[in-house]
Amino acid sequence: MYSYRELDVPQQVLPIAKSAFALRVSEQGSIEEWLSSAIEHGRRLYGVYDGDSLMSAFMLYDFDMRLRNSVVPMGGIGLLCSRLDARGKGAVRTMLANALQTMRTQGHVVSVLDPFNESFYRNYGWEKFSRRQNIEIAPGNLEIPEAADAHLMATDLPFPDEESMAFYNHYASNHYTLVQRGHREWEGRMTVREWSEDVAARGVVRFSMSDQTVGLLEYELSRKASEYRSMFTVNLLAASDESVLHEMLRYLKRLSHQISTLRLNLPLDIQLWPYFSDRPEKHSVRDEFMIRILSMEALNGLSIALPDMSVSVDVQDPQAAWNQGVWAVSIESGILRVKKGERADIRCGIGALSSVISGFSTFAELLAARRAEALESYRGQDFPKTVPFLADHF
Ligand SMILES: CC(C)(COP(=O)(O)OP(=O)(O)OC[C@H]1O[C@@H](n2cnc3c(N)ncnc32)[C@H](O)[C@@H]1OP(=O)(O)O)[C@@H](O)C(=O)NCCC(=O)NCCS
Repeated sequence: MYSYRELDVPQQVLPIAKSAFALRVSEQGSIEEWLSSAIEHGRRLYGVYDGDSLMSAFMLYDFDMRLRNSVVPMGGIGLLCSRLDARGKGAVRTMLANALQTMRTQGHVVSVLDPFNESFYRNYGWEKFSRRQNIEIAPGNLEIPEAADAHLMATDLPFPDEESMAFYNHYASNHYTLVQRGHREWEGRMTVREWSEDVAARGVVRFSMSDQTVGLLEYELSRKASEYRSMFTVNLLAASDESVLHEMLRYLKRLSHQISTLRLNLPLDIQLWPYFSDRPEKHSVRDEFMIRILSMEALNGLSIALPDMSVSVDVQDPQAAWNQGVWAVSIESGILRVKKGERADIRCGIGALSSVISGFSTFAELLAARRAEALESYRGQDFPKTVPFLADHF
């Protein structure tokens, strides 16, 4: 008989994680260190036991993430795994159903995860959410207009200072679906462990003007053991305006004597081709995270900068009975109002609705693919798309 609870001892997850993620012996020390640090920083682990034996587990991350025009509590699911000899026996199914209640109780409005397989999580109500573009180019192939003034200063820091952190959080509360970062989030991003064997350094470059931070670039410097060539990966280009972006690109171009490849991981709406003298060596788009509404009720009050509208949705959510049923969803003076409704205009699963509310998809797209059903009273009401993008991985 399975029982779900917070792990009796967090370290119980280690043998399961080592086999589930096939961690090599040289990587196993890193996961132990990483786990201790995560626990020290207040991360919690939950799992399913059969008697005293742990069958499956996951780590719950509590983030504050931008959703439309608000910043809301988001439950991030990571390290999800089960024992090799427990596979296919329903431990993870039981765990995810209970995890929804855990996150709801903790006040999370939505949950986000990086799926190993989308259809696996779609069954439990998560749906597609974010994409990023990856560009690889030689720094020498950057072409940037001359600077009108040279008052911007770039400072390479192994760890962001208070100013940079404050700049980042302000930027994150106004852009994409970025999460807020405190010391523990920055530490998680900047620490280099043995399992990242190609990584030489991580850090940020702060761009400032008259002592004021106006831009932040986050990077990772790496080199494969068998190669002389090094790579500079940019995971965040947070610029307060175009002239700061230009200065960031000039900075990257100046690395050309050392760095052979520049890899840029960016949201889809950043167009850098006008700054390239040649096509990039690689340019790809990667589907990343999935999202799930945890509580329809908790969406009430979300700030959403769109014209007034209203639509009634019959929500199908077999795993979370509290969301099941008809909800009257409206936008009134830039605020999302959600309350129990009576007659629905449209019917869809919680995953489809999550994808629409998050800005990744629209009812029009989902209706065309028969992922949602238009009822008689539906008059084409919809939520326009945004550019969901999350730079933190967990
Ligand atoms: C993916 C994983 C978590 C599934 O664990 P599990 O213990 O087999 O899960 P369950 O027995 O609870 O099954 C959950 C669902 O997956 C289905 N499933 C499990 N293994 C499957 C397989 N090999 N092929 C197809 N479906 C499978 C089950 O049928 C069940 O579906 P249902 O709810 O419709 O009945 C486990 O295989 C694992 O730990 N993998 C390695 C680590 C990993 O990739 N984690 C995910 C990180 S995002």
